[in-house]
Amino acid sequence: MKNLRNALLLKQLYQLKQLGYRYTNITPYKEDEPNLILPNQLDTLKKQADNCHLCQLSKSRQKVVFGEGNPNADLLFIGEGPGASEDSMGKPFVGRSGELLTKMIENVLHIKREDVYIANIVKCRPPNNRAPTPTEAHTCQPYLLKQIEIIKPKLIIALGATAYHYLTGDETNITKIRGTLHEQNGYTLIPTYHPSYLLRNPSAKKEVFEDLKKVKELMGKE
Ligand code: URA
Repeated sequence: MKNLRNALLLKQLYQLKQLGYRYTNITPYKEDEPNLILPNQLDTLKKQADNCHLCQLSKSRQKVVFGEGNPNADLLFIGEGPGASEDSMGKPFVGRSGELLTKMIENVLHIKREDVYIANIVKCRPPNNRAPTPTEAHTCQPYLLKQIEIIKPKLIIALGATAYHYLTGDETNITKIRGTLHEQNGYTLIPTYHPSYLLRNPSAKKEVFEDLKKVKELMGKE
């Protein structure tokens, strides 16, 4: 009996590992848990995320912010998590930092915003704009990993420390690591500063401009 329980537990832990967990402090899910079988189409994945109650953020959210953009985009931007405007509209980066992100995409990269894809580490707003907890980020991660698997971007731009950390597992300070290229899982990842940071520290825009010049080169646009 105990061996069977251990075998089931091991199986469940392997399944969590395949879903992208590096570690877990959650109780392994039950055999018949339907929520962790993720579909291979973005629209069905979105429906599943819209009904997600796997973490506490689902209790305080207004809308799930799944992500939006070109489902075949070469370029995927990943932020931290929805803020108040995103939570009420159900769309990523629609507030002040969104305006700046749109300018970065359209005025610097010369790409239309609807031609890239934009998502976040967590799909529901952390209260008071705090950073997501490790449990929230890891619980939400299978959705993001599935989005990446479906979209198959060539390049992912991690916006800020939280996005970089949860996409790589690396905790190097963003000021040190920004602008560097990381080959992983079939795409190139480049971390840069988060647009909210740029709103507070406009002098850092020149570094982001440098990072975006690299992105342009990698996209063959320069
Ligand atoms: N900040 C983020 O990280 N994501 C959003 O969608 C909006 C603001």
